[in-house]
Amino acid sequence: MKHFTNIYDIVNLSETIKNGIELKKEPYTFSELGKHKTLVMLFFNASLRTRLSTEKAAKNLGMEVMVLNVNDTWKLEFEDGTVMDMEKSEHIKEAANVISQYADIIAVRAFPSLKDKEKDESEYVLNSFIKYATVPIINMESATSHPLQALSDVITIEELKTTNRPKVVLSWAPHPKALPQAVANSFVNIMKALPVDLTIVQPKGYELNTKITGDTIISYNQKEAFANADFVCAKNWSSYNDYGEVLNSDPSWMITQDKIGQAKFMHCLPVRRNVVVEDTVLDSNNSIVMAQANNRTYAAQIVLKSILENL
Ligand code: CP
Repeated sequence: MKHFTNIYDIVNLSETIKNGIELKKEPYTFSELGKHKTLVMLFFNASLRTRLSTEKAAKNLGMEVMVLNVNDTWKLEFEDGTVMDMEKSEHIKEAANVISQYADIIAVRAFPSLKDKEKDESEYVLNSFIKYATVPIINMESATSHPLQALSDVITIEELKTTNRPKVVLSWAPHPKALPQAVANSFVNIMKALPVDLTIVQPKGYELNTKITGDTIISYNQKEAFANADFVCAKNWSSYNDYGEVLNSDPSWMITQDKIGQAKFMHCLPVRRNVVVEDTVLDSNNSIVMAQANNRTYAAQIVLKSILENL
């Protein structure tokens, strides 16, 4: 693997899932692979899980890790040909090349604006690093995708499924803020590549990009969609068509024990209790959110290992 920008960079998904589960049993097997190699992690936005699990994954492989909160440094210019006489002090051309002098791999987190759809969809932050850095780039959640989360989610499903072809439901849930579609996009993309029956359930107006959803079953009724589900993954996202808008905050879309029944509950975290999901569900034995968070390490580790093997 050269770069890891979305799930399509994974050459053999089922093999990768299997290898991730194996790595979890013996996480230090490849602790020499990353010796004298450095991962630089750049955060344009906040993170708890991605930051710690990716650092842990790199250290399990013997790597050194440096973390930079980009908002603490010079403001970056991404446009070509700009007269830089305003507040932006450094161009991405220099910044990405300089960081490459200190890094063997660069990982980047940069959320969308949710204001300019075309600009967000151009993935200009991630793609500028790919263009101007001289080392591989890992996506730690970009404007439109969160492939490390999706990989962790499928490792978790593989470990906990009790049937060969589970029914998986991705459910929109309420949230007070406008959130990106990235997690939902990557969840759908990766589920489409696996032997699962996927349903997406959402209020009207929350349809995701149809280039991503394709012929996935779409429902507008949670109760019907949750019937016989093995896994229910909850996530809020803002409207894709009315880009970045919050169209609905109806609390009846919250995930409740009554609706979810015996399905296993998934969420990428952080989650707002009693807004997205009621306490009873999150605190039940059917909640697998901790397993998902734990698997973030092995998802990152399998990706880093694949890139290190190709350096
Ligand atoms: N799920 C996830 O990416 O968590 P963080 O935003 O805390 O990294």
